[in-house]
Amino acid sequence: MKRLLHIMFLILFFIGLTFTGLTLAQIGGGVKKKRPLPHEYGRVIIDNYKELWYPVHLKEPSAPVVFDHWLHRARFTCRLCHIDIAFAMEASATGIRASDNKKGYYCGTCHNGKMVYNDREVFASCSKNFQEEDVKRCVRCHSLGKNVKREYDFYTFTEKLPRGRFGNGIDWEKAEAEGLIKPIDFLEGVSIRSFQLEAPKDFDLEAKVEGIPNIIFSHKKHTVWNGCEVCHPEIFIGVKKGITKFTCVNNFEGKYCGACHRTVAFPMLDCQRCHIKAVQ
Ligand code: HEC
Ligand code: HEC
Ligand code: HEC
Ligand code: HEC
Ligand code: HEC
Ligand code: HEC
Repeated sequence: MKRLLHIMFLILFFIGLTFTGLTLAQIGGGVKKKRPLPHEYGRVIIDNYKELWYPVHLKEPSAPVVFDHWLHRARFTCRLCHIDIAFAMEASATGIRASDNKKGYYCGTCHNGKMVYNDREVFASCSKNFQEEDVKRCVRCHSLGKNVKREYDFYTFTEKLPRGRFGNGIDWEKAEAEGLIKPIDFLEGVSIRSFQLEAPKDFDLEAKVEGIPNIIFSHKKHTVWNGCEVCHPEIFIGVKKGITKFTCVNNFEGKYCGACHRTVAFPMLDCQRCHIKAVQ
């Protein structure tokens, strides 16, 4: 009965949120109109350049880049890309240039035609001089609005992974804990081997509204993906618990927990994965 009440409470709060101007779509992830499908969740459109860049004889206009987190996060940690390779955690904010990729930065860190992953060469990214036959490679990334056949099908790729309710429909935390995926956290020549700080013990974050279950925040589980640097000091100043003042509404707006739990990690809609602690 008590549990039922908590769920009712969460639902009421949730309805309240939608009245305060936060739409369901925002809560579901991003500012898109509809909730993304499992294979679309975590998709980033990188779109800074509108100009034509293909030589006229190829008759191909440029197309924005489509980047899928599901394919990449199954293989690499968030920390590797967002700290070592330095991608911004905001669509189109990195300011990637074709020449950066070509020199081996950003996408070109891996997409250089040399890195081997699962016995396959990772296809190269941008180049200045290219022929008709290279265009097929260009449009693997520059694919928005083009009918490009993917090598990896989301549903086949994720078939054996444990299910989750929202987002990609996958419990990524469990997939990692059970060893079904082993995201790489270190790339020779790119990452710097730093000494490992020990993660603080799991603690409760208080929901501060009566009847709302508290949150158990696990440093240990988060460190697997994020090291310390993805969160401290950018997202949480965090030298001491309670220093960062925030509410769940801030999370829904994409700050704090919502920096990740809105577009890539399981979404805010999944109240009960965070509000887990029994109410005293
Ligand atoms: C292979 C590299 C890679 C990995 C691994 C990766 N990301 Fe990203 N992420 C990116 C790129 C690239 C962007 C887009 C940056 C840009 O457009 O400038 C991005 C963007 C984001 C954004 C902003 C999305 C949006 O819609 O604005 C968030 C949040 C994010 N990543 C979180 C994560 C989290 C959490 C993980 C780990 C579970 C992760 N990323 C793993 C490369 C990666
Ligand atoms: C840390 C390494 C790494 C980085 C950085 C990275 N990728 Fe990848 N990406 C991979 C690997 C490995 C594959 C699988 C390649 C294969 O098996 O052929 C892949 C595959 C892909 C695919 C193929 C999808 C398909 O099904 O055909 C696309 C598209 C892609 N990446 C886009 C990008 C873009 C765009 C960026 C930069 C914004 C990027 N990647 C950055 C490692 C990386
Ligand atoms: C692994 C993914 C990937 C592949 C493959 C790729 N690109 Fe790119 N390219 C990007 C990303 C990411 C950007 C940045 C887009 C943005 O910010 O809007 C970019 C930007 C560009 C730009 C515009 C920016 C600038 O600096 O001028 C050009 C031109 C370009 N690519 C050409 C090419 C050509 C030509 C090919 C094929 C030979 C190619 N790219 C293949 C990922 C890729
Ligand atoms: C996913 C984000 C995230 C990651 C990754 C993370 N932290 Fe934190 N950390 C937090 C949050 C949230 C708090 C609580 C902040 C608050 O209440 O103001 C916190 C608080 C702390 C505190 C204060 C604890 C206390 O009891 O006062 C320390 C110390 C700390 N983190 C160290 C680390 C170290 C070391 C790592 C890497 C091993 C790490 N954190 C990784 C989110 C993170
Ligand atoms: C830097 C990105 C990031 C931030 C910030 C972040 N998380 Fe996470 N969190 C993740 C990733 C990645 C996972 C793995 C599961 C997934 O991707 O769905 C995860 C998993 C979890 C889980 C399931 C694992 C477990 O501990 O049982 C909970 C609960 C959770 N996060 C709560 C929080 C809370 C509460 C906050 C804010 C105080 C927070 N997270 C902030 C990235 C983040
Ligand atoms: C990613 C984890 C996460 C998810 C998912 C989540 N919350 Fe929260 N929520 C938090 C954290 C952390 C706090 C505590 C903030 C603080 O320190 O006051 C919180 C606090 C609250 C509070 C107390 C008032 C406030 O704003 O601080 C309410 C009510 C609440 N959440 C409702 C919800 C509802 C309803 C949902 C689902 C629609 C939800 N939460 C989903 C992490 C989460």
